[in-house]
Amino acid sequence: MTIGLNGRWHDAGTYDVNTKTGGPNGSIRNEEEYTHGANSGLKIALDFCEQVKSKCPKITYADLYQLAGVVAVEVTGGPTINFVPGRKDSSASPNEGRLPDAKKGVLHLREVFYRMGLSDKVIVALSGGHTLGRAHPERSGFGCPWTKEPLKFDNSYFVELLKGESEGLLKLPTDTALLEDPEFRRHVEQYAKDEDAFFKDYAESHKKLSELGFTPSSGSKPIVKDGTVLAQSAVGVAVASAVVILSYLYEVRKKMK
Ligand code: HEM
Repeated sequence: MTIGLNGRWHDAGTYDVNTKTGGPNGSIRNEEEYTHGANSGLKIALDFCEQVKSKCPKITYADLYQLAGVVAVEVTGGPTINFVPGRKDSSASPNEGRLPDAKKGVLHLREVFYRMGLSDKVIVALSGGHTLGRAHPERSGFGCPWTKEPLKFDNSYFVELLKGESEGLLKLPTDTALLEDPEFRRHVEQYAKDEDAFFKDYAESHKKLSELGFTPSSGSKPIVKDGTVLAQSAVGVAVASAVVILSYLYEVRKKMK
């Protein structure tokens, strides 16, 4: 489930605002891209999405990956993120090296996220996505979760970050970089104190990331029955897919208990 959030970020996080290439366009499904070093282990999330795609073939991969991220945040207790479907799939993958390198610091974080057209506040809010999940030594070389309850979406990533080193919890160099820069640190301190502020900024930032290079169209075809508009078609497809994703996640949670 947590890997689903990582998967949607890795599809979107390749965006380049200058060349308008990369972004949430489903290209991570291409073998040449999911085999990039930074995507190690993500094939598991892609295979999970493939099962949903076979049940709801009309949804694009690009929408499906983003929807899986929205659902993962919501079912783990995080904010509701506004989701608009209609992204197109691309078969062109960007060259390797656009995603952030966890071993680097402040300058690198800004270089990568500014290339996507995103701000300092968005960098810090999105880093709070590490409230979920864990690192795996066989994938990234790092181990451990960031928080004590890695299946709960809350502001504990920031609380733990401010506490400093603690046994059994992970701090990547890109996480501690958020304490070194005064502008980043200001947001870290605010989010550690005020979970509502984090949830609000996280939901906005997540939406921004998931819509890089995508202009939602107002003209998607409505589903009309007996003269009544039941749903916009793309929205209808997305709702059906969300139901399928949720039922899978429900089963996964049951097995984990
Ligand atoms: C800021 C730059 C970022 C860096 C350098 C980074 C790096 C990493 C690394 C090294 C891992 C461990 C991978 C593994 O071993 O399985 C990881 C996992 C994860 N990342 Fe990030 N990440 C960043 C931003 C984000 C963002 C923006 C999100 C989502 C909003 C996110 C969500 C996740 C999640 C949920 C996992 C856990 C996946 C799992 O449980 O399998 N990360 N990240």
